[in-house]
Amino acid sequence: MQPFDPVNFRGQFQFFQHNPGWVYLDNAATMHKPDVVVNAITSFYQRNNSNVHRGAHTLSQNATRAFEQARDDIATFINAGARQQIIFCSGATAALNQIAFGLMHTVLQPGDRVLITALEHHANIVPWQLHCSRFGVTLDVVPLDTEHKVDQQAFAELLALKPKVVSFSHISNVLGHIQPVAHMISQAKATGALTVIDGAQGIVHDKIDVQALDADFYVWSGHKLYGPTGIGVLYGKTAALELLTPIFAGGEMISEVNFSHSLFNILPFRLEAGTPDIAGAIGLAAACNWLQKINSEQVKNYKAMLLKQFFAGLKKIGGLDILSSPVHNAGIVALNVQGEHPADVAELLNQQAVAVRGGQHCAMPFFSQLGLAGAVRFSFAPYNTEADVATSLQALTQAAEILTA
Ligand code: ALA
Repeated sequence: MQPFDPVNFRGQFQFFQHNPGWVYLDNAATMHKPDVVVNAITSFYQRNNSNVHRGAHTLSQNATRAFEQARDDIATFINAGARQQIIFCSGATAALNQIAFGLMHTVLQPGDRVLITALEHHANIVPWQLHCSRFGVTLDVVPLDTEHKVDQQAFAELLALKPKVVSFSHISNVLGHIQPVAHMISQAKATGALTVIDGAQGIVHDKIDVQALDADFYVWSGHKLYGPTGIGVLYGKTAALELLTPIFAGGEMISEVNFSHSLFNILPFRLEAGTPDIAGAIGLAAACNWLQKINSEQVKNYKAMLLKQFFAGLKKIGGLDILSSPVHNAGIVALNVQGEHPADVAELLNQQAVAVRGGQHCAMPFFSQLGLAGAVRFSFAPYNTEADVATSLQALTQAAEILTA
């Protein structure tokens, strides 16, 4: 295991050499890719490109081996109990759609309930809404407390209504708040519910051990974890995956096709119709293997240090409404300049070469409850520097001064 060296770490991302003037604090939207990932993708296309699982030829067999090795590497990365528990998909959104659709046909019957929280990303709201309304299933929402955290008392009360499925995010993509995820999973499981975790931000912050966490499903997107866009992981316990009706049908996911009926393939192929994103899976596995070699505790401590400095700097800027708490925070800060539209603040930061996201962050219901148009979100990664913190604070001060002058 290599100790974490921030300078060496940042040096592995060519993006920063090509964009020297920028402070990139939009990591919750997507992260940059280290050379090791870019090289793995390039090398696949240059040397090994062929379709997988289909060809009689050696080149296809080589590509299949590389693709299936990626599955093994990712299974190891999250400590999955078996390789077929890793389903490749295009990202967390695709995975959540697959789960919501897939359970509707098997587990959820009219009159049943699904429980989500008021802090969810649209990807963990809309698929449930869509399918619940068609199948006569009730969708309940756990409200937030005054600190914008999931109200645990209300969570316990709504669990008493015996939802068949409980689905929530590990870490809020808007605020960075880390949920007491292990506790919530065990509470939900005690009522007999299936548990679905949106790990799009969680996988980035912490070392995930899916067996220790014990959720039925844990889903994530590759591009938020140094991997390419277009690839993601739907992890599920084998019994839980067997409950899913495939949302996509076509080649590869079948064992027999007739015009009267078809038989499905075994896992993981049953849930991977069509040609997969082979290079994407290989690129994501390269990211995971690279991360395995870096001391994750040191990475977390470094990011916590940047966050502490950022919060300390924010205290010195007047007229801000800070929505995120510094406690149990994964490195994301949402805030507003009082009385100003977040899009204006984000644009003034953009003009100073500070990249942040401004708006509702795919969490419209959260902002509607607060009566806010949105927020400006600063999200940190281990390749950010103390200079990035200082520059972004200076830029925010300037933006606030311009807007309130
Ligand atoms: N879900 C991504 C974000 O939070 C795009 O910005």
